Amino acid sequence: MAMCDRVVAVLLFSLGVVVLEPTAVLAQAETADREKAASEAAATFLNELGAAMKREMAKGGPTEAIKVCADLAPEIAGRLSREHGWRVTRVGTRVRNPLLGMPDAWEQTVLAEFAERAAKGEAFQAMAHSEVVAEPGGQYYRFMKPIVVQPHCVLCHGPVAQIPPAVQDGLRQRYPFDAAVGYAAGDLRGAVSIKQPMGNANE
Ligand code: HEC
Repeated sequence: MAMCDRVVAVLLFSLGVVVLEPTAVLAQAETADREKAASEAAATFLNELGAAMKREMAKGGPTEAIKVCADLAPEIAGRLSREHGWRVTRVGTRVRNPLLGMPDAWEQTVLAEFAERAAKGEAFQAMAHSEVVAEPGGQYYRFMKPIVVQPHCVLCHGPVAQIPPAVQDGLRQRYPFDAAVGYAAGDLRGAVSIKQPMGNANE
């Protein structure tokens, strides 16, 4: 009897392997596709925003460029979200616009992990994190890519004393509870965050 059970167990085990393997391979391929698409969208977001920021800073200086970060960033994020059917956002380690920039619990954990990885010597530029997350609404593929403070970001996100007074005025008017200051070049400023519904989400 015990022998018979073992044979059945071995048979089931082998069948399990045969049945599971193609699914696992498929899932892996799907995840690789999602990761590729997400990192391409994140790069598009950062490149478009970076180019617009440089152009506006050169044209009208930082007071004019406030609108790039304020208006263009959500515009690009919105366009990419609609194009792909995902949620594409930009979140901060500290936040200027709580409506759009506040990280959720998962995003906060990943931001903390990025900081830990950097403390161990990894470069932010080379980092990304992706994960399939189960939520009450279904399963989501989630992806984050660090946003690093560059020297010119400090004009609007650096220590308050170093932000030109006209820029301080402009920021104070729009964001009375601004916490996104005090950064130095090379710091982790936040991340591009992408959330893709997988088959069963929102059904
Ligand atoms: C001219 C001023 C200005 C400059 C320069 C600037 N930002 Fe911003 N940044 C803003 C404003 C204004 C917001 C709030 C946007 C909004 O209302 O959603 C913001 C928001 C952000 C956010 C979203 C999180 C939050 O705090 O709300 C990130 C991330 C960010 N900036 C990163 C950067 C990086 C990286 C650079 C340099 C490449 C940069 N910014 C340069 C003005 C600026």
